[in-house]
Amino acid sequence: MIRKCLFPVAGYGTRFLPATKAMPKEMLPLVNKPLVQYGVEEAVAAGMNNFSFVTGRGKRAIADHFDISYELETQIKGTGKEELLTSIRSLIDNNKFSFTRQNEMKGLGHAILSGQTLIGDEPFAVVLADDLCVVENGQDSVLAQMSKLYNQFRCSIVAIQEVPMDEVHKYGVIAGEPMKEGLFRVTDMVEKPPADKAPSNYAIIGRYILTPDIFDIIRDTEPGKNGEVQITDALLKQAKDGCVLAYKFKGRRFDCGSIDGFVEATNYVYENYYKKGQL
Ligand code: G1P
Repeated sequence: MIRKCLFPVAGYGTRFLPATKAMPKEMLPLVNKPLVQYGVEEAVAAGMNNFSFVTGRGKRAIADHFDISYELETQIKGTGKEELLTSIRSLIDNNKFSFTRQNEMKGLGHAILSGQTLIGDEPFAVVLADDLCVVENGQDSVLAQMSKLYNQFRCSIVAIQEVPMDEVHKYGVIAGEPMKEGLFRVTDMVEKPPADKAPSNYAIIGRYILTPDIFDIIRDTEPGKNGEVQITDALLKQAKDGCVLAYKFKGRRFDCGSIDGFVEATNYVYENYYKKGQL
């Protein structure tokens, strides 16, 4: 059973400037909840209860969000507004939240390695909060789907989706041998390839399950694309020496790291959750 989930949240969110000048991009609200809370709730729906954040300078609002705010709670106690805090209070009361800092921006691989101190020696999930993943009512959350696969195969898993060839340069892209419907054994993986170098149009999205041997592999991984230590390169090594799976998840993903995706996600959440009283 995967219990721990790591959130690399040190990035700057430059695409949302000036909104993200003094506020973490993970705290941008989708209707009335910050982006990062959706990621945590998805992980809770997968049975996880231990959340680690790799933060950086200017990200303290995230730690404050997952902590009690006595002053505010005392102020609104007994008023109709109290219930607006129910979702976050329940997360705080039932889960553990820990934080560490990545003091240099050396890539996603490096950010994940910085989380080792909080994760230790057990398999864990990684959520990139920029990607909002939603599923139909009653379906398993994307992390729950992956966690079930982990229990069956016991190896690292990346979530993938098909994207148009003119978008592969924005993603890690895999090649793999089909194992069963929607599941591949990874044979190749390239970080942000140009279309003519991409091994397929299966793009990695921001949901991973990683086995803890990944930490040593990352430590031995040279900086790759853009001079950064890439988790994609470390996972390729793991795939070559053992097994990494790529899973075409059931559900829908919004790229909330882009303005268009963020607005689409906002409309979706408003129509499908908020208006139906599910937020
Ligand atoms: C990261 C990963 C990339 C993956 C993407 C998913 O890139 O490096 O492999 O496809 O997340 O969102 P980023 O979007 O942080 O540049």
